[in-house]
Amino acid sequence: MRAYDIILKKRNGQELSTEEINFLIEGYMSGKVADYQMSAWAMAVFFRGMTERETADLTMAMVRSGEQVDLSPIQGIKVDKHSTGGVGDKTTLVLGPLVAAAGVPVAKMSGRGLGHTGGTIDKLESIPGFQTGIKKEQFFNNVNQIKIAVAGQTGNLTPADKKLYALRDVTATVDSIPLIASSIMSKKIAAGADAIVLDVKTGCGAFMKTEEDAFKLAAAMVGIGAKVGRKTTAVVTDMDQPLGNTVGNALEVKEAILTLKDKGPADLTELCYTLGSRMLVLGGRANTYDEGRKILEELLKSGAALSKLKELVEAQGGDGTVIENEELLPDTKYSLPLKAAADGYVYAINAEQVGIAAMVLGAGRETKEDVIDPAVGIIINKKRGEEVKSGEILATIYYNDEHRARDAERILLAAYTIKNEKPLDRPLIFGYVDETGSYRI
Ligand code: URA
Repeated sequence: MRAYDIILKKRNGQELSTEEINFLIEGYMSGKVADYQMSAWAMAVFFRGMTERETADLTMAMVRSGEQVDLSPIQGIKVDKHSTGGVGDKTTLVLGPLVAAAGVPVAKMSGRGLGHTGGTIDKLESIPGFQTGIKKEQFFNNVNQIKIAVAGQTGNLTPADKKLYALRDVTATVDSIPLIASSIMSKKIAAGADAIVLDVKTGCGAFMKTEEDAFKLAAAMVGIGAKVGRKTTAVVTDMDQPLGNTVGNALEVKEAILTLKDKGPADLTELCYTLGSRMLVLGGRANTYDEGRKILEELLKSGAALSKLKELVEAQGGDGTVIENEELLPDTKYSLPLKAAADGYVYAINAEQVGIAAMVLGAGRETKEDVIDPAVGIIINKKRGEEVKSGEILATIYYNDEHRARDAERILLAAYTIKNEKPLDRPLIFGYVDETGSYRI
């Protein structure tokens, strides 16, 4: 077998065999296939695409390139949730305790934020004392005892994906649906999930800017899950404006706590019920999504899910009193209101730009080496469709550094579009994809 022939075959639009895909990935990892050959192949995939079978083969070849987490010491069906990334997306902080309170094990390995999107690990680390670097044994024990643990990714999972992603990033081949689908699914499968619920975001703050592409990506990932025996279901959801009202680590933890007190924003609460009910069905705790939702609503309203968050925080060395007293979370020295210059309606809030403004403040990282400030961030006071009067506060910037605040203010102001007309309603949930097909709402 030669890499040249495999590249040629894909360039000509033919389907590659399992052996050819394995040869390519193994050869790339051993150094027998060069970066320039892999780049040419990725570009051929970009234009020619891959079949469901090829995409599943690529996924599994990348899974085999590194360690695979064995979650079998944890009792029950391990259902993972993955979001394709967003701004203000603190879903895991609400959903994890909610689903764990229902008795479904949540063995969550999460990442840090990069660029305009945040990461669960950074958010949790804004809680004083919270340890995300817990050992495997403690991780397993905690999930068995209290049904939940959240840790940073360790180990050498999917090195082939890391290497290929770095190459795609500099060869204009990131936005290929089969390559994105196999990249995401390889990481979930290597992390040991039995079943996966995907939150595929669409809109200006998401990877998939259009609804159509989001459904295609969702279908590609559900297809991989079906082929490799991991039940996978996807929900396509809005990321045209930030989720909830806060962006920034401690601010998002505060909002998650409020949401578990049943005082959170409607969009975040609804998204958690939608994703959580699917986790309960895949985890064998409910027979239907409606039944799952009812269970979750009761757990939220009774305070059981909030108590579960406290258990999680304390089990990982954090100060559990933050749950009753959110003021104990890090706070900034200063705040700056962003005011509307004219009367009208909030026509759009560019989520990506809000994420960039938060990053500029220090809530996120431009490069992996950047150090974040857990306290800084943005509160969105007016969301899409709301009426505003001139001088009213659109958003509030929480900051510690004046220069950064001024930069963020400029970006945030440009992120808001105020018009005289009200925008058309945009749904939070665009539809679902499972093994039986795609359903648009
Ligand atoms: N996220 C991933 O993990 N991989 C991709 O290829 C794109 C987004």
